[in-house]
Amino acid sequence: MEGIDLKDRSVIELGAGTGLLGIVVTLLGAHVTITDRAAALEFLESNVQANLPPELRPRAVVKELTWGKDLDNFTPGAFDFILGADIVYLEETFAELLQTLEHLCSERTVILLSCRIRYERDLKFLKMLRERFSVSEVHYDSSKDVHIYKAQRGSRRDDF
Ligand SMILES: C[S@@+](CC[C@H](N)C(=O)[O-])C[C@H]1O[C@@H](n2cnc3c(N)ncnc32)[C@H](O)[C@@H]1O
Repeated sequence: MEGIDLKDRSVIELGAGTGLLGIVVTLLGAHVTITDRAAALEFLESNVQANLPPELRPRAVVKELTWGKDLDNFTPGAFDFILGADIVYLEETFAELLQTLEHLCSERTVILLSCRIRYERDLKFLKMLRERFSVSEVHYDSSKDVHIYKAQRGSRRDDF
């Protein structure tokens, strides 16, 4: 929605699926690491290649990131933004997802998660997130019933 200046910012997307968010963020000027599980990567890579103009392709890197696994492949604090669209839905992944956010996040990193709260368990994730990060709801789209939560380490609540 262009409310955030992404020009030359460093961004990682978790659970990218088709890669739509990562592609849009690349078009908005960021350097983006677009990640998902191994099984999703081939389709993700082809989507990213097909939907970015050649001159922007070097700005988007598709990489495996299964939450909680091999996190040393990602430098802590290397990203200005950590993004996730509709990735809070499997309770068995909540601890690993949180571990991944903690690994990637520095004091200056902003985490933005868009979520539809479908089940009681999704609220459990938000509670776990609030125990480790300072969390606020920055947007709610009532037509789609989608919340966007912003999380940061410590008590900082800076504007973008
Ligand atoms: C509901 S889809 C959302 C996809 C995309 N972000 C979107 O909004 O269309 C959830 C995504 O999370 C990924 N995912 C689920 N469990 C994961 C895990 N343990 N590690 C990494 N990605 C995972 C899935 O492969 C899938 O792409």
